[in-house]
Amino acid sequence: MAKEFDRQALIQQALDVLSHSYAPYSGFNVAAAVLMDNGEVYTGVNIENASYSATVCAERTAIFKAISENKGARIVAIAIVGGKAGKVTDYCAPCGVCRQVMREFGEPDTMRVIVAKTPTDYQEMSLEELLPLSFGPEFLA
Ligand code: THU
Repeated sequence: MAKEFDRQALIQQALDVLSHSYAPYSGFNVAAAVLMDNGEVYTGVNIENASYSATVCAERTAIFKAISENKGARIVAIAIVGGKAGKVTDYCAPCGVCRQVMREFGEPDTMRVIVAKTPTDYQEMSLEELLPLSFGPEFLA
């Protein structure tokens, strides 16, 4: 059974760091908060680059922070918020690359992905729903 957790608190943690997003080129600010199975939460924002291609998404910033500080930890859930000029008017879906990174550190059937406008206005799905028929580490085992 999947771990229970406070969705509103996780979304709020993402909203709390949205102003840290560094997006001078797109003007599209994103923030994420990832809950690990040891109870730790890490936040992240998108960090753009003048080269464009060196940009990293908010989700990967949060996940890489979490993995680098917690050896072997797995993802329980991630909350994502974002919008132009830091205004969250719609649900911000994770890009394909970030979905694949989630696949590396989360279980497709139990990991929860939450896209939110506010702490109480959100959509939630499993990673499997976002990334069906996915390729993962077990293929290489
Ligand atoms: N972005 C994210 O941070 N996460 C996503 O999943 C979608 C896109 C960022 C990357 C870039 O800085 C900006 O949004 C516009 O693509």
